[in-house]
Amino acid sequence: MSEIDVKLPSFGRGLSARVLILTILFVLVSGILIYVPSIARFRLDWLEEKLNTAHLAILALEATPDYMIDPELEVRLLNHVGARVIGLRSGDGKNLILRGSTPPLLVDVTVDLSDRGFVRLFEDGLDTLVQSRNRVLRVKGYSPRAADVVVDVVLDEWPLRQALLAYSWRILGFSIVISLITAALLFAALQWLIIRPMRRLTREMVNFRQAPEDQSGDFGRTSRGDEIGLAEREFAEMQEKVRQALMQRARLAALGTAVSKINHDLRGILATARLITDRLAESDNPEVRKAAPALLRSLDRAVDLCSDTLNFTREGPPKPEFETFFLAELVDEVGEGLAKLLGTEKSWVSGVAADLRIRADRGQVYRILRNLGENALQMGAQRVEVRAFEAATGIEIEVADDGPGLPPKALENLFVAFKGSARSGGTGLGLAIARELMRGQGGDLKLVRSSADGAVFALSLPPVAALPH
Ligand SMILES: Nc1ncnc2c1ncn2[C@@H]1O[C@H](COP(=O)(O)OP(=O)(O)OP(=O)(O)O)[C@@H](O)[C@H]1O
Ligand SMILES: [Mg+2]
Repeated sequence: MSEIDVKLPSFGRGLSARVLILTILFVLVSGILIYVPSIARFRLDWLEEKLNTAHLAILALEATPDYMIDPELEVRLLNHVGARVIGLRSGDGKNLILRGSTPPLLVDVTVDLSDRGFVRLFEDGLDTLVQSRNRVLRVKGYSPRAADVVVDVVLDEWPLRQALLAYSWRILGFSIVISLITAALLFAALQWLIIRPMRRLTREMVNFRQAPEDQSGDFGRTSRGDEIGLAEREFAEMQEKVRQALMQRARLAALGTAVSKINHDLRGILATARLITDRLAESDNPEVRKAAPALLRSLDRAVDLCSDTLNFTREGPPKPEFETFFLAELVDEVGEGLAKLLGTEKSWVSGVAADLRIRADRGQVYRILRNLGENALQMGAQRVEVRAFEAATGIEIEVADDGPGLPPKALENLFVAFKGSARSGGTGLGLAIARELMRGQGGDLKLVRSSADGAVFALSLPPVAALPH
């Protein structure tokens, strides 16, 4: 496979980088969403733990008869809790206090732990975080160990702030690690599942466009069940079809050249044969003279077949030359052209309004109507009628006959060149060419109905073909 520089977007503008950044962002956002309630919770737990240890510490007083203990022990107990003063009031009215050598001090904030509103807790948590100086807190609340005991602790806020900060850093670090891991995993998955196959598909497309006949770099049959697998299979299918079409086109071109060469020579031969037949017509032998006209007709048919085939293979439909004309006049002309086929018994009836003017290629419409008329009469119709209507979709011209309808063989290959004929001596080009000519003018030709009592064909022309009367 020739290596072609497929211009895929650079990493920064590509899909993977975007997904990478978005993933990191999303995980960080969810980290924040988790962080907000968790600092409130962390602070509450921390303070409750203080109440708990404070309660434990003050219980030491109860062990003494007069609620007095050694001042040194008192200081040690307070240090252990990390409090300056501890107070306790139990349900039975007992008051205990542990204050060591703490001088009277000013409390900055009083925290009542029985107020557990979420917003309140969150605000207080943030408030602690943003403090730049140590505050003295007085924390009150029921002891977690006994529901009827209120513990009162005076302590420094600074250690709480330090713990909160450490906790915040931990959460941030954790979020970053998680987002990096998730992003890396996602990136790898994306690379594996989408980017790589997409690059392969794109490269394949570029290669195919440049050298459609080169099959060396084609996909193997992929068994992927997802959208990419489907795209690969569809592309492989399309490649196959395009390749076939290209090959067929090349062969058809060769065939066309061969046909025109054969035609050319054949027409020369037929011209000679015609000359000889002409002379036969002047023969003294009456038998020979009688055979001459039939022979001439056959030769003419052969020449016509050559010309029609040649014209059909050589070029597509001729470019239409639009003009405006009265349709009824043209229908009458076609009738005159068919005079020989009509003879005296058969009739060509025009039901077209005399003032209906249309815009189309007059010569082509003549040829189409004549073809349809010839077909009907050749198949045994006694009467052929042409009608025309103006509709929102444009002009509709109907050619209806009372013949036997189309035989199955003709219906099977209707409008297919060289295949649609079900008549001895027919080429099978008439309807195919007629439809091509109609489509070239922006219209169409269709078989409307075919039954044992006749066939109806309809020519349609686009709305621009209709003109004001
Ligand atoms: N009005 C019709 N009634 C019955 N059969 C028809 C009618 N028009 C066409 N056919 C059938 O359709 C076939 C195809 O018609 P088409 O004009 O394409 O080819 P053809 O008449 O056989 O040959 P060509 O017109 O090229 O000389 C005819 O052979 C005929 O059997
Ligand atoms: Mg015909």
